[in-house]
Amino acid sequence: MEPVILNCGITALMRRWDRLIASSADGKHFAVQYEAEFARLAIDVIVALGYGQGLDALGTTHTQVARWVHDYNVLSMVNLILPIACTQWPFTLLTDSLLQSRREFVASVTAAAATRREQLKQMAEQRPTDILQALLDGEDPESKAKMTATQVVAENIAIIVASTDIVAQTLTWTLSYLMLYPEAYHRATDEVRRAFPSHHKAISYAQARAKLQFTEACVYETMRIRAATGVFLPRVVPKGGATFQGHFLPEGTELGVNVAGANHHQATWTSPRRFMPERFIDNENLKQNIFSFSLGARVCPGKNLALIEILSTIANLLKNYDFTLPPSALFTPDKLDEHGNPTVMPRSHRFTSVGPTYPDCDCQIIVSKAVK
Ligand code: HEM
Repeated sequence: MEPVILNCGITALMRRWDRLIASSADGKHFAVQYEAEFARLAIDVIVALGYGQGLDALGTTHTQVARWVHDYNVLSMVNLILPIACTQWPFTLLTDSLLQSRREFVASVTAAAATRREQLKQMAEQRPTDILQALLDGEDPESKAKMTATQVVAENIAIIVASTDIVAQTLTWTLSYLMLYPEAYHRATDEVRRAFPSHHKAISYAQARAKLQFTEACVYETMRIRAATGVFLPRVVPKGGATFQGHFLPEGTELGVNVAGANHHQATWTSPRRFMPERFIDNENLKQNIFSFSLGARVCPGKNLALIEILSTIANLLKNYDFTLPPSALFTPDKLDEHGNPTVMPRSHRFTSVGPTYPDCDCQIIVSKAVK
């Protein structure tokens, strides 16, 4: 998994940025909308892991998958709020282009699975080792039944949708918080560059975990203070009802588990409104209290993949590039909110993630090669 993340994601992003720097007016720096860059990275990684072949959204102008994921998220939100707009004519006229986009998405994933089934007939022994193959080969541990073609497509789409936006948004929030807290940015950058001199090729996840305690803490603190997870995790009270903190909840009651509530709970977190990465230093147990990946039976199955992708990306970018906010930036360290903390850009809730509302305006950053 890790070589794919490094090659198809991080190294490809850095190659792209090096090209952009080289072709900039002064050959030294360029401005970029980083949310879109991280979206390309996340898509390239999951397509490479999922299908064993690169899509190269970072190297080309490929935006199709990003559009499918975006439209899928919007359609899912509409479906929650106004289901009739997704199912019943003439209301479906309102969502026509989104429904068309979903049909294209489903058709493409269906075709990929069908092609793989055909290819497998020609393959004697060596089978691909990607997510698609895992879904085709997977079986129920008890009945030994395999998934149907429709289930394989549905799971594949769930993985693509669940893994792209939320990883991209977590990277986006991490970089934006580092820009709002220059002390944390400089401390993390110093830590990375001290541990890995410029000739060090690529920082692996294991190396980052071993040597970049503070940088890793910045990622965890971002996931706590501004989880990219959707607002709440839906649940239905099981048969017989349940008693929770003295309140009886009848069976069938629909509930939402509040992610931000858990990540800011005063009983667990000192000064929960403050961005304090140092709270995680030498406090491994505290990381377990972050609720952003959920907990228990429904914990995010992509948690380890996400942590590898996010920490390795941040570590390698801090090693190789310097970042500054453009003069036009609206959210800067000196603009404080009513709690005395830097004001964070406004955010919007999508179906699977929470991202900046105006990324084209608020996620501009100036990138230059690291000054050694
Ligand atoms: C920072 C990144 C990520 C965060 C914060 C995150 C968070 C979550 C959360 C909160 C859930 C719902 C769990 C619940 O209902 O209790 C979930 C589900 C899921 N996640 Fe992630 N996720 C991330 C990245 C990924 C990645 C990279 C993958 C790719 C494999 C992935 C695949 C999934 C899938 C397939 C589900 C649905 C599981 C089910 O239906 O039970 N996620 N994720």
